[in-house]
Amino acid sequence: MAEQHARKIAPAQGKLGVLCVGLGAVATTFIAGVENIRRGSARPIGSITQMGTIRLGKRTDKRSPLIRDFVSLASLDDLVFGAWDPIPDDAYTAALRAGVLDRHEHLEPISAFLKGIKPMPAVFDQSYVKRLEGKHVKPGSSKRELAEALRKDIKQFKTKQKCDRLVMVWCASTEIFISPGPAHWTLEAFEKAIDANDPMVAPSMLYAYAAIMEGVPFANGAPNLTCDFPAMEQLAKSKAVPIGGKDFKTGQTMVKTVLAPMFKARMLGVAGWYSTNILGNRDGEVLDDPESFKTKEESKLGVLEYILQPQLYPELYGKMYHKVRINYYPPRGDNKEGWDNIDIYGWLGYPMQIKVDFLCRDSILAAPLVLDLALFFDLSQRAGLSGIQEWLSFYFKSPQTAPGLYPEHDLFIQQIKLKNTLRYLMGEKQVTHLDPEYYQDA
Ligand SMILES: NC(=O)c1ccc[n+]([C@@H]2O[C@H](COP(=O)([O-])OP(=O)(O)OC[C@H]3O[C@@H](n4cnc5c(N)ncnc54)[C@H](O)[C@@H]3O)[C@@H](O)[C@H]2O)c1
Repeated sequence: MAEQHARKIAPAQGKLGVLCVGLGAVATTFIAGVENIRRGSARPIGSITQMGTIRLGKRTDKRSPLIRDFVSLASLDDLVFGAWDPIPDDAYTAALRAGVLDRHEHLEPISAFLKGIKPMPAVFDQSYVKRLEGKHVKPGSSKRELAEALRKDIKQFKTKQKCDRLVMVWCASTEIFISPGPAHWTLEAFEKAIDANDPMVAPSMLYAYAAIMEGVPFANGAPNLTCDFPAMEQLAKSKAVPIGGKDFKTGQTMVKTVLAPMFKARMLGVAGWYSTNILGNRDGEVLDDPESFKTKEESKLGVLEYILQPQLYPELYGKMYHKVRINYYPPRGDNKEGWDNIDIYGWLGYPMQIKVDFLCRDSILAAPLVLDLALFFDLSQRAGLSGIQEWLSFYFKSPQTAPGLYPEHDLFIQQIKLKNTLRYLMGEKQVTHLDPEYYQDA
């Protein structure tokens, strides 16, 4: 039975435009995947919005609808796609080049559709992504002009594609590491920094700024600072736009955020955690640059500190050695291999080891996250939620939170938060797992 009033949610009517910044491996695997699914030639495996269910009421109620039947989400048939990229390849050429999906099974049958998706010229500056050269870029030397040009693209796309609503997802390369500074503290300072062409304003920030100014939700799939600072949060709140990030939680970090809570739950110590990756796609090449790697490293490293809380458990985690490496190794392409060597200790301090070797496919893991984020950010917008969407932390390696709040990294706590938020939106009772009613005497 409903416990509270459902929130007012505008219906998911009309077309939803999904604007991808970057039309590389992740974006094309997402777009081609959705089109194959729409045509019935593939299944949306890995997508919570398409395959997930949600338990409502008591365990004995036997009510577990599909999430997409429970909350109003845009239907896959209503999605239209747009993108920006400094490389002019259309989605078909970019997908072939990425080499993720089978050409004959998943690309040729939809080639006309993919060839119709041509990227708009990007706002790109090589000083922020050193290993990438792109000529398909917007003219304009000032950051203000570039931000305005992006706003114009957004408006034109919406009109041309007859979209009712839009969302933007950053699927572009990882930029160099930028620490938040005075230019990011307040909206006023940030606007001034744009006008002054301040190097602290990275291209990704201009996309996020343009999206928010146009009332378009923005999700950041890479670890760049982008919209994770007070000025952008202030802007998002004032324009009633949902934002969030950072960095899709896909392979090694997803595993880490499952294993680490297990050690802590059982009070097992961790002496060291050595994580290494080999990958050979363009993302791997970009991350081979130390400045882009630093951005990724920060995102990957934070996870254990927060989950294991060495300040609360100095005996168990106080001396833990944590190392993350990413090595560019072209023969593997998008098929990343992530190794973890974990040195743990138990009763009386006796050591043990766990080895994980995850032979994953980077973009196959990331594509359903792009879909879910697009649909859930659109839901947030229609439900009147604005600013940081912490309930979508489930999808991010380095979740954005309110200032002063530490992020929740445990995958299953994040999942509970996501599902309870959906219950809350629909006026259903929260699932707390307290459940005294099953054991009360009659
Ligand atoms: N499992 C995963 O694949 C995974 C997980 C977490 C995060 N990510 C992040 O997602 C992003 C995309 O990964 P990918 O494998 O698709 O990389 P990719 O190199 O195949 O694609 C990125 C695309 O972004 C474009 N680009 C770069 N700067 C741009 C700009 N300023 N504007 C528009 N386009 C720009 C590049 O030209 C390229 O085509 C990367 O930042 C990656 O770190 C991926």
